[in-house]
Amino acid sequence: MNAPSSSMATAVCGLQFGDEGKGQIVDLLAAEHQLVARYNGGANAGHTVRVGEDRVALHLVPSGILLPGVTNVVGNGVALDPESFLKEIDGLREHGVAVGDNLKLSDRAHLVMPYHKTEEALREAAARKLAGEGGAIGTTGRGIGPTYADKAHRVAALRVGDLADLDRVRVRLADITAVKNAMLKGLAELAEVPYEPIEAAPLVERLAASAERLQSFVCDTGELLRSSLAAGRRVLFEGAHSALLDIDHGTYPFVTSSPCTALGIGQGAGVPPACIGQVWGVAKAYTSRVGGGPFPTELFGAVADDLRERGNEYGTSTGRPRRIGWIDLVALRYAASLAGVTHLALTGLSVLSGLSEIRACVGYTLGGGELQGVPPTADQWAEVEPVYETLPGFDEVLADYGCYADLPANARALVDRIEAAVAPVAMVCVGPRREQVLKRG
Ligand code: IMP
Repeated sequence: MNAPSSSMATAVCGLQFGDEGKGQIVDLLAAEHQLVARYNGGANAGHTVRVGEDRVALHLVPSGILLPGVTNVVGNGVALDPESFLKEIDGLREHGVAVGDNLKLSDRAHLVMPYHKTEEALREAAARKLAGEGGAIGTTGRGIGPTYADKAHRVAALRVGDLADLDRVRVRLADITAVKNAMLKGLAELAEVPYEPIEAAPLVERLAASAERLQSFVCDTGELLRSSLAAGRRVLFEGAHSALLDIDHGTYPFVTSSPCTALGIGQGAGVPPACIGQVWGVAKAYTSRVGGGPFPTELFGAVADDLRERGNEYGTSTGRPRRIGWIDLVALRYAASLAGVTHLALTGLSVLSGLSEIRACVGYTLGGGELQGVPPTADQWAEVEPVYETLPGFDEVLADYGCYADLPANARALVDRIEAAVAPVAMVCVGPRREQVLKRG
C-alpha cells in the first residue's frame, strides 16, 4: 500500500475554550477536501450551520454533510450517542440534506448510554454537595466523561461494532447494569438525591431500535481514511471543542474528556500523524468559556454583558450564557504551539466594534513573579494575574467590509498584534457568510 501523502490532510482546531466559530472555517475549507472527519468529543460539541433560510445545529455529524460529493466520517475517537446521531440525521433530511452513503460511522466508536448521563449528573451533584459550586466542572450533561471513563475501564464499555451481536450485548448489559447500579446508588447517596435502579432490558430495546438504523453507516473508518489518503484524496479533520479543554493539555480538571488539538487526530481517526499538512487554528478576538474553570481575562459587568449579547454568546448544545473575557495571548500561544498551527483564522473581530479600547493579555504573573508559559494546575491558572496591553478600539461595522486591506487601521493593528504573539493570521471573519471571511496576505 502507498504511504499517505504528507500534504493530503488538513486539521482545523479551536485554540481557546470552544465556540471560536470553527464551523465557518471548516465549511470554507471542506470545499477543497473529499472527506471531512471527526476524531474527538461527542454531542457535547455543536455549532449551527445554515441550510437555505434555516439554521440547523450539528453535534455529531461532520460539517461536510452539506457539501455534495464529500464523504463524512465519524471516527473511532468520537463518543457516539446513537439516538442523538439518528435525530440529527432525521433533522438534516427534513431540511432536504441528503444523508446516506456520504456518512460513515466507525465500528470502533464508543457508545454513550443513558446511564452515562445519569452518572454525569450524579457526579456533578455529588461534587457540588462535597465542595460547593466550584467543585463541579459544569459539564454539558451529554454523558461524555463517563463514556470515555468506561472506555478506559474497558469491560463496562460498548462500541458501535458490538451492536452487530445484540444477544451478546444483552448478556454484557446485565453485568454492566449490576456494576452501574452499585456505583450510581452510592453517588446518589452522596448527592442526597433519590436513585431509581437501571434495568438492562429497556436499554437493549433502545439499542436494538438504533442498531438497525445505524447499520448502513457503519464501517472501519480508519481503513477508509488511510486508503483514501493513499489514493490521494484530501481529508479535513474537524476538531471538536478546543485546546484549552483538552484532557491532557487544557485547564485540567476543568476540561472535556477527549484530546482536543491536532495531537488527537492520529489516535481518534486511525491515521498516521504524518499525513497532516496544514493545521488551522481558530481563535476569537476575545475569549468565551462555558462551565467552570480558570479564566484569567474574564470580564464582569457591562462590557461582558454587551459582548455576550453582540456575539450571541450562548451555548449551542445547552443554551447556557458564556463567560466573556479579553483575548489571552499567553494561552493562545501555548495552544497554537501544542497543535503546531500553520494558519490562524480569526473570528469575532466585529463584536469588538464600538469599544474605545481593547485589551490583550500578553503575560501572566503569579505570586508577584513573571510566569513563563502556562501553569500546571487549574488552581494556579485561576490565580495568575494577567498583564495587559491596551490597543485603540474602532467604531466601524466590520460586517460591511469585503477586503482585509480596507479594514480600519485599528482593527488591523489588533490582528497584527495577535499574529506577532501566536501564528500567521490567514483569514479574518467579519460575519457568518462565506464572503465575510477575508483572506489575508
Ligand atoms: P463535558 O464535555 O460535557 O464533560 O464538559 C466539560 C467542560 O467542557 C465543561 O466546562 C463544558 O462547558 C465544556 N465544553 C464541552 N464541550 C464544549 C463546547 O463544544 N464548547 C464549549 N465548552 C464545551
